[in-house]
Amino acid sequence: MNILSTPRKLLKVTLTALLLSNFLSAEVHDLEKFTIERSEEKKSIYDFSTDEIYGRLKEKGIVLLRGFDVSTRDFIAFSNQFPDAFLPYQGGSIRPNVDGDPTAIIITEKDGNHSVYFHGEQYYQKIRATTFWMYAFVPPVADGATLLCDGRELYARLAEEIKQLFMDKKIKYSRYFPREKWQKIYQVTSVEELERILNKQWINYFIDEDSNLHTTYVTEAIQQEKWSNSPIFINNVLEILEDMQEMHPKYHPEKTKETICVTFEDNTEIPSEVIDQIQQIIAEIKMAVRWQRNDILIFDNTRILHAREGFPENSRRELVSRLSIY
Ligand SMILES: [Fe+2]
Repeated sequence: MNILSTPRKLLKVTLTALLLSNFLSAEVHDLEKFTIERSEEKKSIYDFSTDEIYGRLKEKGIVLLRGFDVSTRDFIAFSNQFPDAFLPYQGGSIRPNVDGDPTAIIITEKDGNHSVYFHGEQYYQKIRATTFWMYAFVPPVADGATLLCDGRELYARLAEEIKQLFMDKKIKYSRYFPREKWQKIYQVTSVEELERILNKQWINYFIDEDSNLHTTYVTEAIQQEKWSNSPIFINNVLEILEDMQEMHPKYHPEKTKETICVTFEDNTEIPSEVIDQIQQIIAEIKMAVRWQRNDILIFDNTRILHAREGFPENSRRELVSRLSIY
């Protein structure tokens, strides 16, 4: 036994456990200033104009409609009134949809009850949603909150060296999929259809002799907000690095290190001290949506990062989600 490596390993395990417990239990700010409750004036979600909702989104980045009588059909009909183009969920997780509609995705406890760290949706490809829509059909009984973080504030609080580091160096997402996996994830059967999507998404790729797909996508960690000129720290870096840690419930070497990873463009690692500092800021400013039945949450995916709190095994949690481009 290597006596020198044992304490280091123990320290690493302890630190990682601390980091995870800090993420799960830290105090979170509430969402009051973004919430609109049912009132005499607004009895139904159809009492809101699309301009009113987008006015709030442009200003605050988040809208939570609470206490309204809403069904899944209402949620879809309500969101369909907006001028947005709704996207099929290509390139992400494989999930069921509502009545064959590829733009209305059902997220349930069957996808797992583990926590998911902060990220922007689909930042590993060129075309991604500007607006994220969620509806709570079955809210979790305990925990399982959706956590939000304003990427504008996160950027503003970053140390100048960190801002400079990510301005100087682009980041690279590298992914690997066996044939059955890319067919499901990109919802295609042939290589020609796959190539059309990857080219449209500016994703570099090669397909090896066993039909496995290898992709890379190079991009900026700091992006620009859609509704203003503000720089925003928004990407999938923290989420992917979190999944790659040995203590994470999702950790599985073949599923993480070998299938998705993130580095700088020149293949160097993103320093862990930098990640720690960013996580520290997030811990101070994050907000929690403690779901109530029929809640509708809408947020700006060009400004707001989201995460999921873990929840007890075998407890129900069913949300419907949609992604759109305004
Ligand atoms: Fe997500």
